[in-house]
Amino acid sequence: MSSPADLKGILVALITPFTDDGSKIDEARLAAHINRLIDAGIHGLVPGGSTGEFTVLSTDERKQLTELCVKYAAGRVPVVAGTGATSTREAVELSKHAAQVGAAAVMVVPPYYDAVNYEILREMMAEIHEASKLPILYYNIPSASGLTLTPQEIAGLSDVGVKYMKDTSGNATALTELLFALSDKIATFNGWDTLTFYGLVAGAPGGVWGAANIIPELAVELWDAIAIKGDLKRGRELWAKAWPICKFLESYNYASAVKTGMELLGHKTGGLRKPFGLLSKEQQEEFAVLINNVGLKTVI
Ligand SMILES: *[C@@H]1O[C@H](CO)[C@@H](O)[C@H](O)[C@H]1NC(C)=O
Repeated sequence: MSSPADLKGILVALITPFTDDGSKIDEARLAAHINRLIDAGIHGLVPGGSTGEFTVLSTDERKQLTELCVKYAAGRVPVVAGTGATSTREAVELSKHAAQVGAAAVMVVPPYYDAVNYEILREMMAEIHEASKLPILYYNIPSASGLTLTPQEIAGLSDVGVKYMKDTSGNATALTELLFALSDKIATFNGWDTLTFYGLVAGAPGGVWGAANIIPELAVELWDAIAIKGDLKRGRELWAKAWPICKFLESYNYASAVKTGMELLGHKTGGLRKPFGLLSKEQQEEFAVLINNVGLKTVI
């Protein structure tokens, strides 16, 4: 058995680039984006989550996305495949597939239309783990899943294959409890953009972070300053730069805002699949200013 903190650092909640007509995953754009992120020093990829628009992908596309990410990462960084679904059968199928094609772990969001209870969730996680043999990163996002668990309940999932979690609850009190009292059971990654600084300072093994699609260098610098060097002063300076972007992303549909940020930097994403779309012209202008403020050039 390996220790609970094998994954660490900046894990990018990856966008899913599409072709211009939105009909397919754009392989060349995905490969280029992954190379750019790895060159910037990020530590892992998490495709198929909220930022990756998994709810508008078919099951086949979700498998294809995992395969492509493993292929393009080419062993340089681990890939944590998003495999959550509203049925256990589909989540198991996706997780088994992720294991077969070389993912390091699976990220599982609980069924998000009809909220489950703790017992059902435990059964589901156990089945996913048994079928895939992969460690599970539990995606704690009560606003989308309708399921709010106590820190103790989350840590209790460690006996059904859950080794990590992404905390997108926005509850710093619960995050603190997980990091200080329950870290022997579960490795808690920050997953709430505006809590990134606190999470890393409090000792989270990393963050699953959508903003890192846009500002990968800054994200890695922040990690290095806080988690590696323990340089709080430098960490604060970097966070002062990154925070306005995080705040902006949280103010809109998150995946829309992240893809808009990439478009502003000149990286074609194919936009979002309907019913979602890129942000409005005015929002783009507002966002461009924030991106320029961190020293990056925008194309509008
Ligand atoms: C945040 O987490 C703490 C600790 O589990 C809990 O007591 C509190 O009710 C939570 N707050 C919200 C708003 O859910």
